[in-house]
Amino acid sequence: MTVVQTEIPGQAMAKSVVETKAGLGSERRPSKVAQAIRAGEPFEAEVHDELAGETAILTAEKFSLWYGQSRALFDITMKLPKGKVTALIGPSGCGKSTLLRSVNRMNDLVDGVRVEGAIMLDGSSVYSPSVDVIELRKRLGMVFQKANPFPMSIFENVVYPLRVDGERRKAVLTEACERSLRAAALWDEVKDRLKDSALGLSGGQQQRLCIARAIVADPEVLLLDEPCSALDPVATMRIEELISEIAERYTVLIVTHNMQQAARVSQFTAFMYLGRLVEYGTTQEVFGRPVLPETEQYVTGRFG
Ligand SMILES: Nc1ncnc2c1ncn2[C@@H]1O[C@H](COP(=O)(O)OP(=O)(O)O)[C@@H](O)[C@H]1O
Ligand SMILES: [Mg+2]
Repeated sequence: MTVVQTEIPGQAMAKSVVETKAGLGSERRPSKVAQAIRAGEPFEAEVHDELAGETAILTAEKFSLWYGQSRALFDITMKLPKGKVTALIGPSGCGKSTLLRSVNRMNDLVDGVRVEGAIMLDGSSVYSPSVDVIELRKRLGMVFQKANPFPMSIFENVVYPLRVDGERRKAVLTEACERSLRAAALWDEVKDRLKDSALGLSGGQQQRLCIARAIVADPEVLLLDEPCSALDPVATMRIEELISEIAERYTVLIVTHNMQQAARVSQFTAFMYLGRLVEYGTTQEVFGRPVLPETEQYVTGRFG
């Protein structure tokens, strides 16, 4: 595949990373990534050996995405370990949300989007013409930055995906609602007011409600896009605890700009930069002993 050169907002930053190092007389290896990007050359992501032992539930193979003329993702090849929590980190605008939305084909809704390469869920292509997108999204629960409860009751919010699926049996819906709210650590707070509007809940409760809704149809993967960025520290802590509990049953891919959060909740971390996957390994290694200078600079808070 040819690498299309387009204007990339972070390109100036890539340059300054290199210059800063040179200026400090650093003896670290040259900044491979920034150099390759500046030269318009493809490069191999630094994928740590620990990934090899993991079973993939989701894989991207040379996946690229363009918004019109502007390329947002460059040949992303990565696998998501089944039953683990993987954090997706990187500076704003590097393509984290785009990658997440590519997985459940939310980008289909954006005009002018074009993709190349493949994303496979349990071995079958997500972009195959025969894929039923509604079915696909049931297999991939998604939670966004800002809680988005529907203007309906707490109960109806949680069971919404099942209703869409045609489920009408009261007993089934009631059971699923309680199970999901318990799993989302919200049951005790709302069990006596399931008929009340979801819009009356606090921000943290609304986000847990969205998680309950995302898991009610028992998805294979839960995609979380900065789920705590609008929450206070206490609500954030509850969501983090919840992610750890949920992770016992689901595979989770979480975008976060909070490095401590990534370190607390995930077993694997993928660092993205300028639309590329740059480094990917266990969270412990990526934070503790990153291979690439870009990764180190980012995880130690020196840019981004
Ligand atoms: N709907 C869209 N239309 C055009 N460009 C977009 C759209 N969404 C995102 N982009 C661009 O794609 C790049 C990656 O954005 P995004 O995936 O939101 O990054 P991140 O989540 O890492 O902050 C950015 O340059 C952004 O401006
Ligand atoms: Mg984003």
